[in-house]
Parts: sequence; structure tokens; C-alpha cells
Amino acid sequence: MSITGALVLAAGKGTRMHSVRPKVMRELLGEPMLQYVLRSIGECLGERIWVVVGHGAKIVEEAFPGLAYIMQQVQLGTGHALAESLPALQDAGLDRVLVINGDCPLADPATIRRFMTEADGADLAFASIVCQDPADYGRVVRKDGKVSAIVEARDYREEVHGPLTGEINAGLYLIAVDAAKRLVPRLGNRNSSSEYYITDLVQLALADGLKVRGVECGDNKNLLGVNSPAELIAAEEMLRARTVDRLLADGVVIHAPALARICPFSIVEPGSELTGPCEIYGRSVVEHGAVIHSNCRIANSRIESGAEIRSFCDISGAIVRHGALVGPFARLRPGSELQADSHVGNFVELKNSTLGMGAKANHLSYLGDASIGERANIGAGTITCNYDGKHKYRTSIGDEAFIGSNTSLVAPVQIGNGALVGAGSVITRDVPEGKLAIARPGQKTLPLRKK
Ligand code: UD1
Ligand code: CA
Repeated sequence: MSITGALVLAAGKGTRMHSVRPKVMRELLGEPMLQYVLRSIGECLGERIWVVVGHGAKIVEEAFPGLAYIMQQVQLGTGHALAESLPALQDAGLDRVLVINGDCPLADPATIRRFMTEADGADLAFASIVCQDPADYGRVVRKDGKVSAIVEARDYREEVHGPLTGEINAGLYLIAVDAAKRLVPRLGNRNSSSEYYITDLVQLALADGLKVRGVECGDNKNLLGVNSPAELIAAEEMLRARTVDRLLADGVVIHAPALARICPFSIVEPGSELTGPCEIYGRSVVEHGAVIHSNCRIANSRIESGAEIRSFCDISGAIVRHGALVGPFARLRPGSELQADSHVGNFVELKNSTLGMGAKANHLSYLGDASIGERANIGAGTITCNYDGKHKYRTSIGDEAFIGSNTSLVAPVQIGNGALVGAGSVITRDVPEGKLAIARPGQKTLPLRKK
């Protein structure tokens, strides 16, 4: 059995994308392009993956820690990226390397596997697709049905290479490492871009009598590259529509399918319901029986069965347990947990806070770094003052405590079980269990001076 690894080419600047960040960090449905490529490749080849980085390398490395990176200091072309990687691939003892462009986010494991099966036995194989407009893609040139070259768009001359056929190079290759070792040093850059093209390996391999195969993948749109904002959005829309169709078929009730943006890595269980436009991103889970109303954005959060998220909520890194009610217009920030049957209403923000079972914070509050007990009631306008300009402190509120409206709880502070805080208080010291605390200037009622 030969040992196959993968090499993802991700060092390019992405000039046509007009992006400050590296192109592979551009997002589709909230996930960087590179994440999709890594997932698909990982499914096919496990952990033997190397990523060539260059432009904005640090940003990529920080977003995907723990991968094997190869630094391409100057980006002299895809052939140069392979040349820079060969020593690492050889050291790893690979026999073959699957090379994939990092700007190919829709490449799916089924397509990659089929390509690898058909490429088996060749010294150099590449995937080709047909498209109406070959645009900037490398053109596949065949003679009597046999591949003779890949010619980049800028270098293509009909009078030399023949009439366009629409068959293009997808940017997915399977290369024997021995062959690469031999051919890569012979790559030149005498072309209209002055770059070293990986695609020139085709002619070099043929000249050496090696086995070259162009694996035809029909009009498989999953293999299209993403080079410009327009192509990014087109790919994202394909992915979005496909994800929504799959979820509908699985049994999720999606009332406005055209307006649902759901990351394919999120889990939305059959029997959940999305009533209008929504965004669900990252590693979110929406359980069976949960209902999400219109215009909510949910990222990396868990919405348990029977929970209801009303309109216009922004929920990130939070857990909403069974039967809890959120919104409309609520914001749950990372580290928030709403326990079963608790309520969070309009214009309430939670951060790194737990709201106990059956507790309620229904209006206009900020609850940060707080633990709130079961069945506690947080009055309108309650603020936990968790930050003194330097440090953050916690607030703890006991079971069945009642916090009157417009109260500031200056942390660190503890409110005991069943304690009651009068409206308008600024609480700076602990309130023991079962006690009433009022901390506000007493009311003065004075006679009005008559004119
Ligand atoms: C490339 C192919 C073209 C093919 C198309 C498919 C070459 C010369 N051309 O063109 O035949 O039809 O992909 O989408 O390969 N990269 C590096 N280092 C570099 C240059 C590029 O890592 O020095 C990376 C880029 O980040 C990108 C990938 O390689 O992810 C492809 O580069 P790109 O410039 O997008 O090539 P295309 O012009 O699309
Ligand atoms: Ca490209």
C-alpha cells in the first residue's frame, strides 16, 4: 500500500479577492474557506495534511493551530509552492501527494475519493471539469483524446493550442512523490505571469514517458475555484441552498428556506422549526422541538428541545436549556447558560452568566459574570457592575431572590437565597439570605412654592 498525504496550497494573496486577510480565510456561512477544504481532505486522508502558507501566514496558523505548515516566503507560483513542500513530504515518507488548491471550498469527499480511485496508478493525475466559460482557468489540451498539456489562460493561443474545448483544470492533483522530485526542479517561469506553474508538470511528465491522467469530472461545480467576491458568494449560495435542502429533507421545518443561512457544520435536528430568516453558524446544535423565530443569529450555541428563541436575538457561545424562552431582542454572549424553563426578555444581555431553572430576567438588563439561582426574579433595568476598569468580578444571586427594578449590583457581591433588593438600589455589600436591602436616597416630598 502506498502512503498518500495531502498538500493544501494556501499561500497566495488572492489579488482578485481584494482582501486584506489571506483569501483562504474568507468565509462561507461563517467558516473560512480553508476549513471546508481541510474537512473534506481530512475525511479522505486522515491526519497526513500539510498546508502551504505565505501571505498572511500568521492569521492562518492562528485560526488552525496544530497543523503541519510549510512556509512559502515569496509566492512564486503553485509549482514553487510544491517545490518548497517536497522536502517535508519526502521526510514524512509519502509515496503520493494529493495536492489541492486552498480556494476550492466545495470540493467534497465523494468527489475527492472518486478522483483518487480513477487517478490510481498514474504518476501524475489531475481532475478536469467542463464549463461554458473557461474564464481564467487552465485549459486542458488533448491530442486524440490524450492529455498533452495544461495551458494557463494567459498563455493560451488558439492558433498554437487549438480551439477551446471548455475542459479546464480543477486544481486537484495526485502526484507520485518520486516523479515530483524529478520534475519539479525542471519547472521554469518563462510564461506571461513569470510564475512557476504546477500545471507545467503535465508536459514534463509526458516528456519523461510517465503516466499522466486527466480525470474527467463532468460539470462538477464543487470543483470550481473561488477567486473573486462574486465567486465566493456564488459558492456560498450553492452551499447554503444545499444545506437547507438537506435539512428540509431530514425533517426540519424551515418556513423561509431561501432566507435561512445555516453552516453545514451546525446540527439542526429533525422536528425543530425555523419560522423566518435566520443565521445558524459554527458548531451550533438546535435540538428536536426547539423553535427559532425570525431574524436570529445563533453561533456555536446549543438550543435544547422545547426552547423558544423569539425574533431578533443574537446568541453566541451560549446554552439554552430545555423549555427556556429567549427574546425578542435578547443577546446571549459566550459562557451564558439559561437553565430549564428560565426566561430572558427584550433588551437583556448575558455574558458568562448562568440563569437558574425557572428564573426570569425579562426586561432591559445586563448580567455579566453572574450566577443566578432558581426561580430568582431580576427586575427591569438590573445591572451587574462587573468591571472596575481593571478587573472583572462575579455577582451571585440566590434561589428565589428578587431584585427590584433599576438596581445596580456592584461586584463582587452576593445576594442570598430569598433576599429582596428594593428598586433603584446600588448594592455594594452582600445581602444575606432572606433579608431586604434598600440602598437609595430616601424620597423627599416638599411643598410646592406657589407663584
Ligand atoms: C490555478 C491553476 C489553473 C486551474 C485553477 C483551478 C496554476 C498555475 N493554475 O489557477 O490551471 O484551472 O487553479 O482553480 O496552478 N498558491 C500558493 N502559492 C503561490 C501561488 C498560489 O500557495 O505561489 C495557492 C493559492 O493560495 C491558491 C492556489 O494556490 O489557493 C491556486 O492559486 P491561484 O492563484 O488561485 O491559481 P489560479 O489562477 O486559480
Ligand atoms: Ca484559484
